[in-house]
Amino acid sequence: MTKYQRIVLASRPRGVVVPENFRLEEIDVPALAEGQLLVRNHYLSLDPYMRGRMSDAKSYAAPQPLEQTMIGGTVGEVVESRHPGFAAGEFVAGMFGWAEMGVSDGEGLRKVDTAAIPAAAHLGAVGMPGMTAWYGMHEILRPRLGETVVVSAASGAVGSAVGQLARLAGCRAVGIAGGKAKCDYVVNELGFDACVDYKAGNLKADLAAATPNGIDAIFENVGGDVFDTALGRTNAFARVALCGLLAGYTGAEIPIRNAKKLLLNRITLRGFIVTEHMDMWPQGLSEMGRLVASGQLKYRESVSQGLASAPQALIGLLQGLNFGKQLVKLIE
Ligand SMILES: NC(=O)c1ccc[n+]([C@@H]2O[C@H](COP(=O)([O-])OP(=O)(O)OC[C@H]3O[C@@H](n4cnc5c(N)ncnc54)[C@H](OP(=O)(O)O)[C@@H]3O)[C@@H](O)[C@H]2O)c1
Repeated sequence: MTKYQRIVLASRPRGVVVPENFRLEEIDVPALAEGQLLVRNHYLSLDPYMRGRMSDAKSYAAPQPLEQTMIGGTVGEVVESRHPGFAAGEFVAGMFGWAEMGVSDGEGLRKVDTAAIPAAAHLGAVGMPGMTAWYGMHEILRPRLGETVVVSAASGAVGSAVGQLARLAGCRAVGIAGGKAKCDYVVNELGFDACVDYKAGNLKADLAAATPNGIDAIFENVGGDVFDTALGRTNAFARVALCGLLAGYTGAEIPIRNAKKLLLNRITLRGFIVTEHMDMWPQGLSEMGRLVASGQLKYRESVSQGLASAPQALIGLLQGLNFGKQLVKLIE
């Protein structure tokens, strides 16, 4: 290959993301300098944080620059190497962005074993989302035997892992997800004890029925009504891992209306950004890898085909159209 495709951010969204915010380009494969390697990406990960980076509002990370390759996690094969630590044929996870290929000096690349764990899973259950679930459970919620753990966006990449880790810790795992199909999957395939469909219109009563002993730990991915309703069911000294606020990703404010519960129930709430805890990744990923390889932790993927499909797939993810980890397959 002498050329490859990439997608750049062409404009910042005003409210919802539209296809015109992106532009597909073809560029030359660069010649490698000494100490560099060339990777052919097999999968691109699409994640909710990308919506935040597309905006130039102040955040924990710098905005995605215009006219440059969209940020994104990838997994792919080294096709050429002038780096002593990498050989052609090895698989690496990295941040090559929305691009079919990438050149690196090796910094930030993670070699991945695709024998026991499929390449794509290194972007999901054994990648950043799995690590997010592991960190929030292990370092913040620390659930104890018999406690009730509630997680929103429960069928997704992070939420699906959270509930299964809760079950493995001997807890009652209760998911909140949009629609019957997602809820059925969460209970029947992933083994959660219950799942509440927040779109069914009875969130408060349904969550009460699913949490007869109240809630001891909340892994929050959504915010808004879903979070307020869960706060209303908390027990004294409950913990909250504030992981994401999907309900506000188009720019809406996300007030906590049930703040009184934080005080009355002496709740500990901690927000976190998983990439600020890279020292924990080797331990977390090795534990998640062991659980996936042994079949104790399951996951599901939504895969769109070809780089050109990425903008629409991200728009769908932000509308809840994905079912499990959203990926783009970049090879035939
Ligand atoms: N703090 C960190 O370091 C960190 C790291 C990774 C991810 N996260 C956060 O974790 C959360 C889950 O990420 P993920 O990768 O696992 O995504 P995901 O759950 O695989 O996909 C997003 C899901 O969120 C739900 N959703 C989308 N828009 C929504 C809206 N407006 N209101 C309510 N629900 C909506 C949809 O599920 P339903 O159909 O069920 O609504 C959708 O399928 C996100 O908030 C993400 O930003 C945080």
